Amino acid sequence: MRLKDQVALVTGGARGIGLGISKRLAGEGALTIIGDVRTELAEESAHSITSEGGQCVARHLDVLDSSNVDGVMSQIAAEFGKLDILVNNAGVHLVKPITDYTDGDWEHVMAVNARGPFFTMRAAARQMMKQRSGKIINIVTILTGTPFSSIYEASKHALMGLTKCLMYELAPYGITVNAISPGAVDTELLKKGIREKAASAGLEVQSIYDQIASTTPLGRLCTPEDVAGAVAFLASSDGDYITGELIHVTGGTFHQNLGRKQS
Ligand SMILES: NC(=O)c1ccc[n+]([C@@H]2O[C@H](COP(=O)([O-])OP(=O)(O)OC[C@H]3O[C@@H](n4cnc5c(N)ncnc54)[C@H](O)[C@@H]3O)[C@@H](O)[C@H]2O)c1
Repeated sequence: MRLKDQVALVTGGARGIGLGISKRLAGEGALTIIGDVRTELAEESAHSITSEGGQCVARHLDVLDSSNVDGVMSQIAAEFGKLDILVNNAGVHLVKPITDYTDGDWEHVMAVNARGPFFTMRAAARQMMKQRSGKIINIVTILTGTPFSSIYEASKHALMGLTKCLMYELAPYGITVNAISPGAVDTELLKKGIREKAASAGLEVQSIYDQIASTTPLGRLCTPEDVAGAVAFLASSDGDYITGELIHVTGGTFHQNLGRKQS
């Protein structure tokens, strides 16, 4: 119960990695707010966490809409008095060759993955600076480049850029800002990405899963729980002196990727 009496907001916490993070933060004692555009699913997920003894509520949160983001942040401050932990997890993935992407693809992926966390961090910073404390954790991706994911990678590099700048700006207020790079987690986002990559690269879906497993030194895919463990560490007092870092939770894939010769 390292996070007892803490208040945490997890964007995109209704399913996948975000749900794993929400379960873990609530399990560590934090009052956890799942903020997701899929409101019904967020409520079901919050209910499943409370039925296991955690404190969890759901809020409709669309990171594309800054007035919604600001409103949710004001409600959290009014209802719970503070925000200790913000996890920017909501994200979308779109796999295509550069020549097939539309203007709208760029706008959408950049807006959810980069502008959204900018909106949530701006709103959270206003509250956390008043408190003079806070932990911000951004879920990025392996930042070594991935073929057919150029907009997604660009959006996650943008989020890493925000992480590095805000680390400096918010440190004087006792706020840490870090990022986590998960390995491949078999969520809806990954399944869709693999289907799209198979179409773009002319590969079989199963061969892509096999390639991921065979190039992961630890020999298996990542899980939401693996990512959640790193989030809980950074959010707890064990992470108090860590800021501006990128932690790879990739089973060693990060290092393999640096030496990769083919897509
Ligand atoms: N799955 C992987 O292999 C993998 C690897 C590296 C990084 N990531 C990152 O991890 C994060 C979570 O991914 P996941 O695999 O769990 O995806 P997912 O699609 O299973 O879940 C994403 C969640 O974000 C929510 N969301 C989407 N748009 C939103 C918006 N505008 N406002 C609020 N919520 C919104 C969705 O409703 C969903 O609940 C993403 O940022 C993703 O880029 C995933």
